[in-house]
Amino acid sequence: QDSMYHEKNRPQFHFTTRRGWINDPNGLIFYEGEYHLFYQHNPYEKEWENMTWGHAVSKDMIHWDELDDALRPDNLGTMFSGSTVIDYNNTAGFNKGNTPAMIATYTVDSEEKQVQCMAYSLDKGRTWTKYSKNPLIDSKAKWNSHDTRDPRVFWYAPGKHWVLVLNERDGHSIYNSTNLKDWEFKSHTTGFWECPDLFELPVDGDKSKTKWVMYGASNTYMIGSFDGQKFTPESGKHFFSTGTIYAAQTYTNIPEADGRRIQIGWSRVSHPGMPFNGMMLLPTELTLKTTKDGIRLFSQPVKETAQLFDKANQWADIKQNDANEKLKQYKDADRLRIKTTIKLSHATSAGLNLFGQHIIDYDMNANLVNGTFYSPEDMTSMEISADIYIDRTTIEVFIDGGVYSYSMSRKPDAKNTEGLHFWGNNIDIKNLEVYTVKSIWP
Ligand code: FRU
Repeated sequence: QDSMYHEKNRPQFHFTTRRGWINDPNGLIFYEGEYHLFYQHNPYEKEWENMTWGHAVSKDMIHWDELDDALRPDNLGTMFSGSTVIDYNNTAGFNKGNTPAMIATYTVDSEEKQVQCMAYSLDKGRTWTKYSKNPLIDSKAKWNSHDTRDPRVFWYAPGKHWVLVLNERDGHSIYNSTNLKDWEFKSHTTGFWECPDLFELPVDGDKSKTKWVMYGASNTYMIGSFDGQKFTPESGKHFFSTGTIYAAQTYTNIPEADGRRIQIGWSRVSHPGMPFNGMMLLPTELTLKTTKDGIRLFSQPVKETAQLFDKANQWADIKQNDANEKLKQYKDADRLRIKTTIKLSHATSAGLNLFGQHIIDYDMNANLVNGTFYSPEDMTSMEISADIYIDRTTIEVFIDGGVYSYSMSRKPDAKNTEGLHFWGNNIDIKNLEVYTVKSIWP
């Protein structure tokens, strides 16, 4: 019998629940030295059902402590996705002495409808009291639509009011409030589905030059401006992450001195034979950078992940066959990080393969990376670089500094003689780094 968290097919450096089902991360917030990760959870079975807010905390977003469930189903329905804030100014009136309330705004789902509700906690998210006058927003009749959910709340300092972004109809609506209870509809942006997020970021690290990013559950996003009431897109819809990732959300209340915008996404993977389903991907820092195609959103694992990796080997400018020889020693590794830059010469497509699965499939003829249209920074160089995180049941890949990333499930029991190897004709391996990975579990 394997001990808890070390069962055969449990990811070793990604968050999973002890047992049951998880999907979306919810209420991501940093408060008093703790990163909170609430999440859509079925505590009883491995299937999606009985939606409850599960809860874990961490000091570094790497090592997690799973606590008691935070929000359980009630007579209005089950607990769907939402967000949390700290009400420093006591706008909702739930604060006690010097303790500001942590306030969750979330969707309650029932067969009849989806409504938006609130609950507060005065003990760092451990126990919660639901607001006696829930629901706060009931817009089914207004839009004649059942799908109105996933409130994303944040404080808009210039206007001194709260903003709530809600998935409803064919996109994301903006609501305003001064007390987190009475919400007024302001505007709507078409073209998104589920789990909205909206945040401001400096462009190329320049704090005097900022843009707003609106995104939805599939990591499609628009860049634009925001005046507290209306998001005005200045770009078309792009995507920055594809694959098993879904319903990502970013942290609120990160101290200004830190200033990062940090995302966690759900990975829709299962783990053969395990008593749990789903997992969280590595936390990533989101930044805006100017590329030859315009401003783009980049995503890269947060610096805290560095503690997980020990560099085992590095080779520069080696031929494919040599690289494949070197990689043979890692064929039984259950987790690895690999950084590589490859250059195509006499092939239209090439990449890296693990037991029959293409981790990288770069088709420079059709501009595709793993089947998705992607145009690397400098197409004519025929080079692509990838930072690859292989865990027991999932693989995450960050291309060219994180301008595009994807995740896939890994078949943990798949084996063949080829192991981990580069494929395609005559590719040059300009750089190849292999890291061993520590487990995050006690
Ligand atoms: C996204 C989602 C949300 C909803 C939640 C229910 O994965 O469908 O829109 O709130 O999951 O679990």
